[in-house]
Amino acid sequence: MNYLDGKIIVITGASSGIGAATARSLAEHGAKLVLAARNQDRLDRLTEQIQSAGGIAAARVTDVTDAADMEQLAAYAIKTFGGLDILVNNAGLMLFSAWKDLAVDDWGRMIDTNIRGYLNGIQAVLPSMLEQNSGYILNMASVAGHQIGESAGVYSATKFFVHAITESMRKELGVHHGIRASTISPGVINTGWADKVDDPAGRQAAKELNSLAITPEAVADAVVYALNQPANTTVNDLIISPTRQNW
Ligand code: NAI
Repeated sequence: MNYLDGKIIVITGASSGIGAATARSLAEHGAKLVLAARNQDRLDRLTEQIQSAGGIAAARVTDVTDAADMEQLAAYAIKTFGGLDILVNNAGLMLFSAWKDLAVDDWGRMIDTNIRGYLNGIQAVLPSMLEQNSGYILNMASVAGHQIGESAGVYSATKFFVHAITESMRKELGVHHGIRASTISPGVINTGWADKVDDPAGRQAAKELNSLAITPEAVADAVVYALNQPANTTVNDLIISPTRQNW
């Protein structure tokens, strides 16, 4: 049974890495996608790829740190496809750093994107989901939301936050309103993230970890498994990591 056929799905951070792989896979399962990220060119390229492979996708440049922009993204999905069934909160930053380096700017960017950005997504989609008494919010978390590795302190804290709010949503929105919430917890995935780390100690730790990385398609498969369940079934959390990663 394919429960994804015709489902209207908003994906944040869709222009690269895990978000892009997930978008391709969901499109192959017949979902109607609204792709959100900050880079118009990349979004356009992915939209064209999906459409030329027979999939259905529209794109909107959106900054997840801006609550009003996220509300407009939800409105765009409803206007374009006539509804909104699923939000994949995925846009996130993994800025590793050592505490001694006091990478305060990086801490702030991760709090704005990984915490505030996810809350902005939830705020934007919940009114319509509550009205229809159904919906699904899938939050991309991390193994770093289960345990803490070197140079990953603040990043891990943002992912512990994601686990906490998802657990709370499951107990409240799932139980009382039929709105499902899940986390996917990837281990290290090769998306180029280690090259975006500026802090020297953090970059070293990131590069070492990334040498074990597996592909974003492995995470996309996990997302499809979680989302492709009947309405009375929720996959609470799926951890998917490289065989040789020890955290
Ligand atoms: P990526 O850097 O390849 O993609 C992140 C996407 O988010 C990009 O499309 C970027 O443009 C977008 N983005 C960043 N800030 C944004 C903002 N303010 N507004 C809108 N879009 C924004 O990253 P990757 O590796 O694919 O990560 C995706 C998610 O998976 C993140 O939440 C990350 O924490 C999580 N994750 C990644 C792992 C990895 O090893 N790559 C491991 C575990 C979790």
